[in-house]
Amino acid sequence: MQDLTIAIVGATGAVGTELIRIIEQRHPKLRHIKLLASSRSAGKRLTINGRELVVQETSDDAFKGVDIAFISVSTEVSRRLGPIAVAAGAVVIDDSSAFRMQPEVPLVVPEVNGADVTWHQGIIAIPNCSTTPVVMAGHPLHQVNPIRRITAATYQSVSGAGAAAVAELRAQTRQVLDGGQATPSALPNQIAFNVIPRIDSFLPSGYTREEQKMADETRKIMHAPEIAVSATCVRVPVSISHSAALHLEFTRPMPLAEVRKLLARMPGVRVLDNPEAGEYPMPWDVAGADEVFVGRIRQDQSHPNGIALWVVSDNLRKGAALNSIQIAEELVRRDCLRPRASPSRHK
Ligand SMILES: NC(=O)c1ccc[n+]([C@@H]2O[C@H](COP(=O)([O-])OP(=O)(O)OC[C@H]3O[C@@H](n4cnc5c(N)ncnc54)[C@H](OP(=O)(O)O)[C@@H]3O)[C@@H](O)[C@H]2O)c1
Repeated sequence: MQDLTIAIVGATGAVGTELIRIIEQRHPKLRHIKLLASSRSAGKRLTINGRELVVQETSDDAFKGVDIAFISVSTEVSRRLGPIAVAAGAVVIDDSSAFRMQPEVPLVVPEVNGADVTWHQGIIAIPNCSTTPVVMAGHPLHQVNPIRRITAATYQSVSGAGAAAVAELRAQTRQVLDGGQATPSALPNQIAFNVIPRIDSFLPSGYTREEQKMADETRKIMHAPEIAVSATCVRVPVSISHSAALHLEFTRPMPLAEVRKLLARMPGVRVLDNPEAGEYPMPWDVAGADEVFVGRIRQDQSHPNGIALWVVSDNLRKGAALNSIQIAEELVRRDCLRPRASPSRHK
């Protein structure tokens, strides 16, 4: 990794800031780095790997000489910049929903489907931050007892909606405590002392796009188009870490001891499940950690083949920046930075 030239597009945002932190932790010798954002941030100075760099506006020729472009901007901006970066010779690792469901774009969580990086054609996408913990917990179980159905209710932090939403939660909390009115701007409704049963826009089905993303992306990453998924995605007044109550229905009954054993062996998953002692994952504790935490593991009383889980992960790390860096590491490890001639698409 250390000889590569990388660009971080969206370096001033919530995910970009975490990318910088993770590069400092995992790749402190990386030297050739470009920090890019919009014209609003051009000239801002940020420190990475001990050097102060000037943030540049993302012009069309910003990707010259770049090996890997980590793009963490809005879907619309990604849609425009992704192909420009690829044309300049970079491999794009994109955090937005712009390319995730395109058949020629691998959608990757390395612990689950790392081999999918081998058929990239220039762009690799990471999933939505609420999907990643679902596949991290579901994958090892699905390997031994195929999952038929997933029901998810999420409790998603405001940082999932970007840096502006984090500032909004802080400001609104002060306003409401001071007896004032909260004015929503980054989020659709008041978030202080409230929960919002809406993330992204509504579809004719009555589900939101966020909920549909969880269904479509889970099936693509797990190579399991047959899994039925129903999600309710909710924004909660938490700064960092998304939580989810998951109900998994398997093909056969699933003994709890086996669930615990399989989850404990899954790289990137940590079982924290001792409710009697007050041990279960919570977003405050999980913020800053790399692992997906699983607790409250129990039989689902409503179905003989069902189990219920409580899953929490840092949406800015495993849900975004860490997953992107792990994809870059996977590309280097498998020596497939350059697209291979004939793609063998996922099944
Ligand atoms: N937050 C999460 O947990 C999470 C998880 C997974 C995926 N994602 C996805 O990652 C992407 C970024 O999310 P975020 O939470 O980091 O958002 P954010 O905090 O709002 O940051 C957005 C970044 O995009 C930059 N930007 C805006 N317009 C640009 C342009 N025209 N050219 C270049 N850069 C531009 C901004 O730069 P300025 O400072 O100059 O405005 C800023 O650095 C989104 O697509 C999001 O859906 C986020």
